[in-house]
Amino acid sequence: MRSLTCSLVITLALAAFSLGPCAQRQTATERPAPAGGPQFSEVNTAWPQQAVRSTHGMVATDEELGSQVGLEILKRGGNAVDAAVAVAFALAVVEPAAGNIGGGGFMLIRLANGKSSFYDYREVAPAKATRDMYIGANGQLDEDASTNGYRSVAVPGTVAGLELALKTHGTMKLADVMAPAIRLAQTGFPVSAKLAHELREERPDLQRFSVSNRIFLNNGRLFDQGDTFRQPELAATLQRIARNGAADFYCGQTARMLAADMARLGGLISLEDLANYQPKIREILRANYTVKDHKWEVLSAPPPSSGGVAIIEALNVLQNIPLKGWDDPQSVHMVAETMRRVFADRAAYLADPDFSDVPVAGLTDPCYAKDLLATVDPAHASSSQIVKAGNPHVCGISASNAAPTQIIASLREGPHTTHISVVDGWGNAVASTYTLNNSYGSHVTSSAGFLPKDEMDDFTAQPGMPNALFGLIQSDANAIAPSHRPLSSMTPTILLRDAKLSFVTGSPGGPSIISATLLSVLNWMRLGMEAQAAINAPRFHHQWLPDTLVLERKIPAALESALNLRGHRTRRSGHIGLVNAIAIDPQTGERLGAADPRDAGSALAY
Ligand code: DON
Repeated sequence: MRSLTCSLVITLALAAFSLGPCAQRQTATERPAPAGGPQFSEVNTAWPQQAVRSTHGMVATDEELGSQVGLEILKRGGNAVDAAVAVAFALAVVEPAAGNIGGGGFMLIRLANGKSSFYDYREVAPAKATRDMYIGANGQLDEDASTNGYRSVAVPGTVAGLELALKTHGTMKLADVMAPAIRLAQTGFPVSAKLAHELREERPDLQRFSVSNRIFLNNGRLFDQGDTFRQPELAATLQRIARNGAADFYCGQTARMLAADMARLGGLISLEDLANYQPKIREILRANYTVKDHKWEVLSAPPPSSGGVAIIEALNVLQNIPLKGWDDPQSVHMVAETMRRVFADRAAYLADPDFSDVPVAGLTDPCYAKDLLATVDPAHASSSQIVKAGNPHVCGISASNAAPTQIIASLREGPHTTHISVVDGWGNAVASTYTLNNSYGSHVTSSAGFLPKDEMDDFTAQPGMPNALFGLIQSDANAIAPSHRPLSSMTPTILLRDAKLSFVTGSPGGPSIISATLLSVLNWMRLGMEAQAAINAPRFHHQWLPDTLVLERKIPAALESALNLRGHRTRRSGHIGLVNAIAIDPQTGERLGAADPRDAGSALAY
């Protein structure tokens, strides 16, 4: 018997509406690296200097096999949404560290007809989740409990979100876009050097769970590069979803398998939690800028992402600041000081908008940006002990003295999350970032063959203390509570230039997603860099606390010294973010695929 929540539910509320995935198949029978930093493998030797050019479709992802699937769909006549959904399912097979059906994410779509939408398929806390569920008897955060095993898992949103986006904007059937993923899971694919390396690295956590050990560690024998990796259980799960839709995952056999695993192994997610899950369509955040006589519009991710607010707030602060490039210490200083203030606000104000009043209008208002800029000393680094969250307000209304709540502590960025950009031959565009949070999520593998993700760790697990994975201290508004979405940094973003599609971007990287995405936008929109140069350019990141400016190692020592002279405490990191972008050549309209060479990024076109 299906629960009430599995019957048709349509909620229209202000900017958001949601559809329960179980509702969609009434007849279904089956029911930081930085600071210890990102462990991105370095598989590329020479970085491409030029973007891949095409007059038709372009797909940019972290994995060549994923990009190939997108291209296959585009060549069969699918649009960008068909291709993006196909890639997302395929990455769940070929990039198990980040690609997923057990996680969640965001998808920003801008159609060639000018319409755009934002899909929020972020996970939610299960009904039995409690505010202090990760606090041990000693009063301390139990970091293992919030990042490993079934208790760290939030109700996954990926399958419902992908299905909803496809139904709304795609042209192909779910079964058709899932066919490549099913093929890859069934017949297998050759293990890459990167995957073999990652699986070795993750061995200590994966071997704690018997199904993970069997599937991902080859029963303890490990995989070598070139071995064929088959995932029959995952193939069967994908086949059920292809046949029965997201209803299988939320109300069908997969739901029953996951709920049974949870009940047996200490997880909280019940059949009811799964049946209640709803992806949401949210209002896109937008901001307008004029750069060198061209009108730019930035479309980005609204809460529960902090990314769009942060990017727009930063672009507003920097609007009238001359930026020369990232070999110029003054430009880096001004951006770093902006990041410091934006992240202070992120910590204080951002949370699930369905349960708290996020002052989005004030935070993204140009008048508030002027207030923030007035606090920046152009010659010296501020102290994060002194810089606190501001008092956001819109023009004409003075700042209130509302006391913001909180703080971020340290950057620990881990893999993995993954960003997909697609532009098709018609000019439809998709920017989609989705995540397993930690590399290999909770490290536990469900009997249905997929990794559920440890997204509960993105909540404020213990007010005033850093969360386990990213060292984030966030506000009380982001505390664990049933049905709440944990705050995210994922920032799929699209830029229009003179009302035409211009740049599709986004990144993984925990909090540094925001910095990597912001820099890609500044590189393209403000600095006028070539598309690939905009991705290759060295990155830096400041997240308020710790009071440290993180610099990619390619940044010259002389620049670091100049920043130190201004008072910045600096630290080196391997890589910050993995931005897979697609730009549009304003002269020719060609798509310029710029995948991130920091890892195994792949831009493919036809
Ligand atoms: O939603 C978020 O902000 C995090 N779960 C993202 C994690 C991430 O990017 C890790 N990958 N590098």
